[in-house]
Amino acid sequence: MKKFLRYLAWSVAAIVVLAVGASFVLARMAASRYETEWTVHNADFPIPFPLAGNELAASTQPEADALEAAIRRGQHLVDSRVGCKGCHGGDLGGAAIVDVALVGHWIAPNLTAGAGSVVEGYTANDWDRAVRHGVRRNGQTSSMPSQDFLNLSDHELSDIVTYIRSMPAVDRDLGPVRFGPVFNYLVATDPNLMIAFKLDHNKPHAVEPPIAAPGAELGAHIAQVCSGCHGANFSGGKLAGDPNMPIVANLTPHESGLRDWTEEDFIRALREGKRKDGTDISPMMPWRAYAQMTDTEIRALWAYLETIPAVEKGAR
Ligand code: HEC
Ligand code: HEC
Repeated sequence: MKKFLRYLAWSVAAIVVLAVGASFVLARMAASRYETEWTVHNADFPIPFPLAGNELAASTQPEADALEAAIRRGQHLVDSRVGCKGCHGGDLGGAAIVDVALVGHWIAPNLTAGAGSVVEGYTANDWDRAVRHGVRRNGQTSSMPSQDFLNLSDHELSDIVTYIRSMPAVDRDLGPVRFGPVFNYLVATDPNLMIAFKLDHNKPHAVEPPIAAPGAELGAHIAQVCSGCHGANFSGGKLAGDPNMPIVANLTPHESGLRDWTEEDFIRALREGKRKDGTDISPMMPWRAYAQMTDTEIRALWAYLETIPAVEKGAR
């Protein structure tokens, strides 16, 4: 009996030493990825964009009108398509996405001008890095999942920033991001998790988005924001990481996807959160935001989804 107890004590001690050692190694690996330094091109664009063409000709106060129009377009993008508030909070003053010691203190920081702001003095270049490259201002990797925003044009990003700057200042300091053991494990072992590792940081960005017409070109542009969950080929399937997320639907024209859907079914899904058979779509699918897209935007998305290859559900 004594011998057995001694054996047990040694085994437990060995397991503890191994676990501590492994978590130390994973923490070092995760930190070295998070602290990787990136060389990113210099982006520059006006914030806000000035009026041009007919709008300029028709305006008696071009600067004030440009600002007002940019705020309106930026608010539409933020509230209907790009979802910054889903993570950074409805007031953009920052929010904790995950705050559990074992997982991590994963916070989307304060984007307003109040105490705790991380965007004080941000230039167009800093916004470009944060939103379209997944790189922090200090040049190191960011843990923000920027993959949805890579194809935003300069004009759209400028509108988004103009809108964010028009929001009331909120005092909220959530402190820096800290990874716990679970995050360390994910960051150390999944090379695709942080988008900065997958990008060509010198690739130029489009200055203007596609023309606002209900065709596949605009649809493809908007659909980038669906790819984070529905996958690069939109076939859906299980998403790693979030246990609350239902199996993601297949948006391709496959029989396991939207083959039998009509444009009306698709419009209803985004506007009312109902599937073709009338059942409710989970709120984890951000349809309440998408419901605020214009008819042109929703019809453009549908036009695009009809052109993509049919793929079996989950075959990413
Ligand atoms: C899925 C959640 C999520 C969404 C959506 C999101 N962010 Fe973030 N954002 C984060 C997290 C988390 C961080 C902190 C990352 C870090 O410091 O490692 C962050 C950081 C930032 C930063 C600071 C730079 C940095 O990387 O630390 C800026 C600026 C920013 N976000 C802007 C935006 C804008 C603009 C949008 C909408 C176009 C947006 N974010 C959408 C989660 C999100
Ligand atoms: C945050 C993750 C997420 C994003 C981003 C997202 N979806 Fe979804 N979507 C889901 C999930 C999860 C489901 C399945 C929900 C359910 O089963 O209740 C779904 C279901 C759907 C459905 C219902 C299909 C069916 O057969 O039930 C449609 C249509 C859809 N998404 C379209 C889109 C479009 C278009 C976009 C981009 C504009 C998009 N989604 C972005 C997570 C997402």
